[in-house]
Amino acid sequence: METTETIVTMPRIGDKAPAFTAVTTQGNINFPADYKGKWVIFFSHPADFTPVCTSEFITFAARESEFNALNCQLVGLSVDGLYSHIAWLRTINEKIEFKGMKNIEVKFPLIEDITMEVAKKYGMIQPGESSTKAVRAVFFIDPNGMIRAIIYYPLSMGRNFDELKRALIALQTADTYNIATPADWQPGDDVIVPTAGSCGVAKERMENKEEFTCYDWFFCTKPLPIEKVITK
Ligand code: BEZ
Repeated sequence: METTETIVTMPRIGDKAPAFTAVTTQGNINFPADYKGKWVIFFSHPADFTPVCTSEFITFAARESEFNALNCQLVGLSVDGLYSHIAWLRTINEKIEFKGMKNIEVKFPLIEDITMEVAKKYGMIQPGESSTKAVRAVFFIDPNGMIRAIIYYPLSMGRNFDELKRALIALQTADTYNIATPADWQPGDDVIVPTAGSCGVAKERMENKEEFTCYDWFFCTKPLPIEKVITK
C-alpha cells in the first residue's frame, strides 16, 4: 500500500546540532560552526506580525544581555522571509510597548526560512499543529555544538523566559560541577551528587551529615552556593 505520510525528522538530546547556512537579519550565518565555544538558544516562532510571537520577541530582546552574560547567544527562526522579518522588527522597535518594555531593538539574528529547510531539519514543523508554521521550539546547544535540551510549545503558548534561563544555568552547572539538579531547582538550592558507586561511599555519605543530605543511599544532595553557580 502506498503511503503519503510525511516523515518528520526530530533531532534529539545528545545529537550534534544539524548544520546549515542561512540568511538572517544580521547577515549570513554558518550554524553551529559560527558559535563554537558559546552556548546557543536556537528557537523558532510561528510567524512574524502575530501577537504571542511579538510578546516573546520583545521579552527575548529585552533580556538578551542576561543570556549573553551566561556565554549564550540567541538565534531565532521563522518560515517568513527577510523583508517580513525586517518590517516586523522595525514595528516592534517603533510602535510596541509590552509590560513596560519599549523601543526594543532585536540585535540577535532572525533566520529567514521560506523553504522550511532548516525548520524541517530541526523538527520545528509539526504537521499535527501546523504544516505551514513552525511550532515554538527551543534548542539548547552547547559550546561543542551538541544538543543538550529541547523544549517544544504549541502555537498558542508564549514561552517562560525565567524557565529558559533556569534551564541554561542548570545545564551549565551540571557540566561544571558534575552534579544533577532536582525538581524545581533554582540557583543557590542544593544539588544532587552522582549516586555512590559502592556501599562504602554510600555509607560514608550517609554518615557525613555536614556536607551531604541523604534521603536514602541513592539520593544525596549537597549545598552549592549561588556565588559558585552565577559567577558574573
Ligand atoms: C501568535 O504568535 O500569536 C500566533 C502565531 C501563530 C498562531 C497562533 C498564534
